Amino acid sequence: MKKKMLGVVLLVMLICSMTACGNDNRRRSNSSVQKNASGEQAVKENSKILVAYFTRADNMDQAPRVDAVSRASFNVENGEVSGNTEAVAKYIQEAVGGDLFSIKTVEPYPLNYDDNVNVASEEQKNNARPKLSTHVENMDKYDVIFIGYPNWWGTLPKPVFTFLEEYNLSGKTVIPFATHRGSGLGSGPRDISKLSPNSKILDGFSVRGEDAINSKDDVNEWLKDLGVLK
Ligand SMILES: Cc1cc2nc3c(=O)[nH]c(=O)nc-3n(C[C@H](O)[C@H](O)[C@H](O)COP(=O)(O)O)c2cc1C
Repeated sequence: MKKKMLGVVLLVMLICSMTACGNDNRRRSNSSVQKNASGEQAVKENSKILVAYFTRADNMDQAPRVDAVSRASFNVENGEVSGNTEAVAKYIQEAVGGDLFSIKTVEPYPLNYDDNVNVASEEQKNNARPKLSTHVENMDKYDVIFIGYPNWWGTLPKPVFTFLEEYNLSGKTVIPFATHRGSGLGSGPRDISKLSPNSKILDGFSVRGEDAINSKDDVNEWLKDLGVLK
């Protein structure tokens, strides 16, 4: 009898992992959505919003060939190559408005993935602050700053550290989001709060890089959970 019960429980777990309950699981494992614990309105109606992001595709020393890109590294839409984090940034802007801003470095990264990893590894070791070629014209006018990044070595790429040190985000609401290959947001939110201790940091969103292009619904759900989207 006990064996039969165990069999039923295992069968239910199996069906659950393949169907509706599985979908819920997928959303959670793809994204780190949490309710805004404070219960207060996270973002006021007339807030000025900036969606800033760093993405590899905007920082290459050569344009990637459209026919040679792999989905895990880049997206191709209408013959244009774009980054995973950029895809999420655009869904956020579509949903809540505001200005899109791509964080770009003076020195581009190698198009070759392994070479890019080596350069980033050196930067990580040296706690580098790569110089930026793009700058936000008037950061003072924004109340809410979304900060998007590909998880690099478990945290923000070093150019995002440079970005955060360039501006005073005191009193602003900062909302992290990340794309990754398994590590989620990593210690990005903690590092953001170290660099911007007087900002209000809301719960972030993360999605695997290869799923970023299909994450529109998850992004909207997260924004609703945060109270940013009605
Ligand atoms: C230098 C480098 C380091 C990375 N480190 C990690 C990591 O620690 N954990 C992880 O899950 N993914 C890591 N990745 C994978 C990226 O986070 C992932 O591919 C991301 O979706 C790329 O986004 P992008 O197209 O916007 O640049 C790394 C990628 C690079 C190039």
